[in-house]
Amino acid sequence: MPESGRILIIDDEADIRESLELLLEMEGYQVDLAQNGGEGLARFESAQYDMVLLDLMMPDKSGMEVLTEIRERDRDTPVAMITAYGSVEVAVRALKLGANDYFSKPWDNEKLLIEVARMIGARKLLTENTQLKRALKQRYAFPNIVGKSERMLRVLDLVAQVAPSRATILITGETGTGKELIAKAIHANSPRADQVFVAVNSGSLPPDLLESTLFGHVKGAFTSAMAARKGYFEAANKGTIFFDEISTVGVETQAKLLRVLQEREFMPLGSNEVIRSDVRIIAACNADLRKMVEEGKFREDLYYRLNVINLALPPLRDRRDDIPLLVDHFFTKYCRENEKFLDAGGRSVLRFEPDAMQILMDHAWPGNVRELENIMERAVVLANEALVPVSVLPDHLLHTGGMKIRRDEAGRLAPDASLFEMVADYERRTIVDTLEAHSWSQTEAAEKLRIPLSTLNQKIKRLEIQIKRRGDK
Ligand SMILES: Nc1ncnc2c1ncn2[C@@H]1O[C@H](COP(=O)(O)OP(=O)(O)OP(=O)(O)O)[C@@H](O)[C@H]1O
Ligand SMILES: [Mg+2]
Repeated sequence: MPESGRILIIDDEADIRESLELLLEMEGYQVDLAQNGGEGLARFESAQYDMVLLDLMMPDKSGMEVLTEIRERDRDTPVAMITAYGSVEVAVRALKLGANDYFSKPWDNEKLLIEVARMIGARKLLTENTQLKRALKQRYAFPNIVGKSERMLRVLDLVAQVAPSRATILITGETGTGKELIAKAIHANSPRADQVFVAVNSGSLPPDLLESTLFGHVKGAFTSAMAARKGYFEAANKGTIFFDEISTVGVETQAKLLRVLQEREFMPLGSNEVIRSDVRIIAACNADLRKMVEEGKFREDLYYRLNVINLALPPLRDRRDDIPLLVDHFFTKYCRENEKFLDAGGRSVLRFEPDAMQILMDHAWPGNVRELENIMERAVVLANEALVPVSVLPDHLLHTGGMKIRRDEAGRLAPDASLFEMVADYERRTIVDTLEAHSWSQTEAAEKLRIPLSTLNQKIKRLEIQIKRRGDK
């Protein structure tokens, strides 16, 4: 296989340049020539080389000088010196100045080619490694966020883009979609990562308490204020404050928040002292904030101040390809916690049986990732063997939100039915027919269908088949 790479030869002796050029080109390299130090440096600057062969003794600039200048610009490109026979001491000095190797004249062609290939190979490995590390770093900037669906990747791209700035961010999304998780990821990937991240849940505090929590108070500011207290805005200076469920902040507090956002300053309760604070604000809400603005329940100016950048987290049902990944992620998490079903690498060996997995894929997930996480924890606790059966899933997954088969008025399958719906419809018909043929004896039907009775039971629930008692017409 021909070698590849671009090599610069800097030598004042024409026959040396030409014999090296011939040797290297025959091997497959692309070769450029320079006849003195000045020209060599100019070429080195104007192109990307994989290696430089540099003569030590040249009239205008010595090889040492050229080497020093190359190393000032570039630390990685391999440079090999060409030295007169016996000048080992000089060669060693060149190595100290950053040369990678040296060849004494007359050189052994075979050896030279081997060394050149080794140096170029090592260099390539180094660049590939750096690129690999960079790619890994990008991925691992969000170590605990799972998702490879297009919609989730878009969210993560945006997170990476906005994290370094100070911009205020409004994260919207249904309950359990990961709003707090994303807020923490933004903080962790920002220059504020070493400073505090404070989460405030305004909904859980009465308005007075919320304000004193945020802005602090002086002694005696209100009846129970026995001592002065610093607020979050002061304590989180240079850090991030996360306002969970911002829609629950009362109108009066909204005005004060607006001031902090605009002026970066505030006054503790009962004080006239203006305190400045550099806090980044991330707000989350699962209510429709714009609608609240229209209804006059949320200040429009504050809404726009908060909504500089909107990160909308998609509900889980809109990114179903993330479900298997999340299942795996939480299985591993809870198997570790429970010290069950782990392989040697510490990963979970639990798997859902196909029916159970199908139910998870079809479920509507009103509680999103949190709901899925809870169900996975429960499954780990209840599982007795590595293949998790449908019976470990909570009932509500089997009854409501299970497989919905959409039909027209005549009871026919909807014209845009998915493959899942078609399969479920066929499965349902087969089960009903078999039950009917066996006078609704589930034991007999299960036998006929060659599935365990418990599986038939689950399918009956999931496909919402009305069971008639034996003999019912
Ligand atoms: N993409 C994800 N990868 C891994 N875990 C996730 C992901 N999204 C959410 N979670 C986990 O799901 C749970 C709920 O997430 P989080 O608390 O961030 O949701 P939320 O949107 O703030 O919900 P709520 O509106 O109810 O407060 C957390 O345990 C979180 O770690
Ligand atoms: Mg939350």
